[in-house]
Amino acid sequence: MGIEIREKLLLTDDERRALFEWGPDIFGTTAMRLFWRPKDLHFVMYDDAKPVSHAAILKHPVKVGETEITVGGLGGVVTVPEAQRRGLARQVVKRATSVMEVDWQVDAGLLFCLPRMIHYYQALGWEVVDAPVLIEAEAGKISSPMPVMVLPFKGIRWPSGTIDLGSRPW
Ligand SMILES: CC(C)(COP(=O)(O)OP(=O)(O)OC[C@H]1O[C@@H](n2cnc3c(N)ncnc32)[C@H](O)[C@@H]1OP(=O)(O)O)[C@@H](O)C(=O)NCCC(=O)NCCS
Repeated sequence: MGIEIREKLLLTDDERRALFEWGPDIFGTTAMRLFWRPKDLHFVMYDDAKPVSHAAILKHPVKVGETEITVGGLGGVVTVPEAQRRGLARQVVKRATSVMEVDWQVDAGLLFCLPRMIHYYQALGWEVVDAPVLIEAEAGKISSPMPVMVLPFKGIRWPSGTIDLGSRPW
């Protein structure tokens, strides 16, 4: 069987456990007490029968200043420890962004990440947003404590201005 990426609307409990429960706070975001939005479509990479890597996407309109832009949100990027550093996350992220661009035809990708991951996504063409990003949190609307990165499609330039996500982050 080897390596294959499957697209799924929902993860099974077994997939969830294998992908996300291999350590405490694997994304390093627990202390921020944010509420994360479920995604619309999951990409699970299987190595034989075992889920080893994952990314997920959703479609969402955001406001940048007065402009509305439909983005593909990317999140839940993970590779289980024993399969890391083989380029698997890179393959899954590339498949997910290709679905956003080609099938969904959104204007750009948008993701939240810790500062330590910025270089990784820059190498895949993503740009850091140099403006506040307003997100929904427990206390109402707050400025995102995490860096936000975008991947513009169709040759667009990401406009300047505050981003109002109008949503929990993903
Ligand atoms: C980040 C992660 C998804 C990478 O998966 P992967 O399949 O090993 O990724 P790739 O093989 O495509 O790329 C490996 C690169 O990821 C980057 N990377 C991985 N972990 C990193 C970390 N903790 N800090 C900074 N960079 C990291 C490095 O650039 C690494 O390249 P190197 O091996 O030359 O140092 C994986 O380490 C993971 O699941 N980490 C925990 C969850 C997480 O932080 N997810 C990212 C959310 S934005």
